[in-house]
Amino acid sequence: MGVTAQTAGPPRGPFAPDDAAAYTRWRDAKLAHLPARPDDLLVELADPRAVTAAERAALAERCRRHNMALFVGPVVADGTRDWLRAFARTFGLDDLDSNMLADEDGISPLTVAADGPRRAYIPYTDRPLSWHTDGYYNPLHRPVRGLVLYTVQDAAEGGENALLDHELAYIALRDADPGHIAALSQPDAMTIPPNAEPGQPPRPAQPGPVFSVDPLTGALHMRYTARVRHVVWKDDPAVTAAVAALNGLLNGGCPWVLRHRMAPGQGLLCNNVLHNRTGFRDAPDRTRLVYRARFHDRVSAA
Ligand SMILES: [Fe+2]
Repeated sequence: MGVTAQTAGPPRGPFAPDDAAAYTRWRDAKLAHLPARPDDLLVELADPRAVTAAERAALAERCRRHNMALFVGPVVADGTRDWLRAFARTFGLDDLDSNMLADEDGISPLTVAADGPRRAYIPYTDRPLSWHTDGYYNPLHRPVRGLVLYTVQDAAEGGENALLDHELAYIALRDADPGHIAALSQPDAMTIPPNAEPGQPPRPAQPGPVFSVDPLTGALHMRYTARVRHVVWKDDPAVTAAVAALNGLLNGGCPWVLRHRMAPGQGLLCNNVLHNRTGFRDAPDRTRLVYRARFHDRVSAA
């Protein structure tokens, strides 16, 4: 991945609007190595509590190419928070994003909540979750760059994820119309309305871009939710057109979307790619439990 120049002069690199040559080189290399199926992203781990150098390299390589990797190993349901934290740290994910509903250590057990404030949040229900990146409502200086999911128990039925590398969404939109990228890179393209939870500090309205480039690493970041009640789009015909194009891509059978239902012992390690989840149905002896950890870091090979 190219790095946007920090020196004087116009920005360069694949995500710079005026650097068509860098974009084309990066795009062609990216599209030459697409994962055709979720299995192409999958790495088997002998024990997720003790990742070997070869396993680590295989996962990091998939994340470097595709911004995500899947892993599978024996179900380790004891001390999940501790080993998941250590697992993530192996990939440079250390700076946990704490959200107001996460347990104290910032790692959330996603399961259907019978009562309490979590009931109001779709991740803690069995309802479908529409396309989004995690932490789209975060302050801009605290983006969620890395995400780990780990399935301890799957539901009796449903709970499938769709995944799309956000760099591929960028390519599809830029190829359709570079104006879509310009529109969605505006600093006020998408505003998250303020939120007030009883007993919690109110969160102010959060305007920001959909696409941004990290000035330090040159990495592309995406901030998005398809939930219409959770976002106010800029009143701008170019933004309206770009959002329609993006929604069409996500819901219109884009061939780059991967669908995967995580079985117990499976997990996702990613740079906060676009994802959704179908609804699911628990059974009395089969309650879906997925641990989620969000980080301000990106996956690295460190
Ligand atoms: Fe999510």
